[in-house]
Amino acid sequence: DAVPDLELIQSRIRDVADFPAPGILFKDITPLLNDRHALAATVSALAAPFRDTGVDHVIGLEARGFIFGAPVALELGAGFVPARKAGKLPSRTIGQAYDLEYGTATVEIHADALHPGSRVLIVDDVLATGGTGRAAVELVRRAGGTVVGFSVLMELAALQGREKLPDVEPHCLLSV
Ligand code: PRP
Repeated sequence: DAVPDLELIQSRIRDVADFPAPGILFKDITPLLNDRHALAATVSALAAPFRDTGVDHVIGLEARGFIFGAPVALELGAGFVPARKAGKLPSRTIGQAYDLEYGTATVEIHADALHPGSRVLIVDDVLATGGTGRAAVELVRRAGGTVVGFSVLMELAALQGREKLPDVEPHCLLSV
């Protein structure tokens, strides 16, 4: 049953050419979200390796990491923490900058979101260059938490984001 689930999941990711810019082949997950069987299979598969690992908090990375992160947290009996782009969270935050192709970006969590020793699973839709994931790992550690894992729907293998996360061993459902 594990393999047909992954085939279903893969079949519901749509390639869109030239979005958001010419030459880019965008991986559109909205057909997957629209299909109740594919959505349930995805959430279940993202959570599966972490069922008995004592996860206290799931961090979802804005924006598509929110969609999967919250139901994964429910499946694991964990709380949910949004990691947002700079300036979006209302209370006191800690932030981590990371490099983009041109310039930098910052992800933030609330400074009181984790407790000392909090066991954290990071969830996102795509692992591309690994910059966002790396920043999330550093944020968790600076907030006093322990990273239990990094669970992602798809890895864009050619971009080698995994190399930025050697200490985390990302769990990726699909490699595209
Ligand atoms: C995408 C994706 C990941 C990140 C991966 O988010 O959802 O969060 O990029 O890229 P990286 O591995 O190269 O860091 P994006 O920044 O497009 O934000 P969005 O989900 O809010 O559109």
